[in-house]
Amino acid sequence: MTVHDALVLGIETSCDDTAAAVVNGGTDVLSSVVSSQVDLHAMYGGVVPEIAGRAHLELLTPVIGEALGRAGVAGKDLHAVAATIGPGLIGSLLVGVSEAKALTLAWDLPFVGVNHLEGHLFAALLEHRGIRWPVAVLLVSGGHTLLVSMEGPGRYRLLGQTLDDAAGEAFDKVARFLGLGYPGGPAIERAAASGDPTAFAFPRALVGDGLDFSFSGLKTAVVHAVRGRPDAADQDIAASFQQAVVDVLVAKAAKAAVSVGARGVCLAGGVAANGALRRALTEACAQLGLPAYLPSLATCTDNAAMIAAAGWWQLEHLGPTALDAGADPNLRLPLLG
Ligand code: KG4
Ligand code: ZN
Repeated sequence: MTVHDALVLGIETSCDDTAAAVVNGGTDVLSSVVSSQVDLHAMYGGVVPEIAGRAHLELLTPVIGEALGRAGVAGKDLHAVAATIGPGLIGSLLVGVSEAKALTLAWDLPFVGVNHLEGHLFAALLEHRGIRWPVAVLLVSGGHTLLVSMEGPGRYRLLGQTLDDAAGEAFDKVARFLGLGYPGGPAIERAAASGDPTAFAFPRALVGDGLDFSFSGLKTAVVHAVRGRPDAADQDIAASFQQAVVDVLVAKAAKAAVSVGARGVCLAGGVAANGALRRALTEACAQLGLPAYLPSLATCTDNAAMIAAAGWWQLEHLGPTALDAGADPNLRLPLLG
């Protein structure tokens, strides 16, 4: 068996999802198990780091067991164990990294520490073959909003990023303000489905101005709008807010694609599960004559298959990670030049 067929166990514990997956050769997903902690955090309206860390400790071993079982492989069949080393919540990251290192020692395997953001970029590669580079990637999650020119695996140029809140964070904060529940993205999307996206003219910050984003003013505009019209329907506010976010994200992704001569546009990160965003980006790409690479819904949000995929590539091209490499809550995407 060559490294191309290598079976990699991926482990993801950077935030509130405990996930493990077995992926063969970087693209063939044999199993992907995600145990969500949403119920544990919902009553607090957001992720509580101490609760997340403790829950990972309880859940990770059975989740790994289930991933191996579903894939029909044992530890001795694996070629590497890859785990997210950052960015994320330090207590949560440490659980996954420590378990991964312990397993590599027990099974005599290489350890691969994977950047969570790079994992999200690999998510698209899991499901789309024959991608022609470069692609413009819009990575929109709870903690990050990045526009990246991806020239191939491991080759990234940063084109733009948020100057304040991440797009997912804006969804979560507005949902909490409206009392729609946690996580906010799906709650806003559900409410927006029966609302009027033109009911409120919320700001599209920096829309004609470069490739950076800003969402904190939009959040404040929602608060003012609700206070000014307390009788307004949540559905209309949610739909108008969602439309404002989608308009800016899609306008900038299209502009980024043109600016780097991209041969396609990729969506990644939890917010990529949003139907309005997926539809608008697909339409914008059709107008540009470019393919839109949309990950399946399960691959958008945090999962370990994307970590195993990135880990497989990293092992093949950069080699294993030293066992004394620590988790880094502020790890950045490695950029070219
Ligand atoms: O990538 P992810 O699972 O975790 C991070 O790395 O942050 O992204 C989670 C974020 C949350 O902010 C969540 O509200 C948002 O993705 N999200 C959505 C949707 N599903 C998840 N935002 C908008 N619409 C959705 N359907
Ligand atoms: Zn993520």
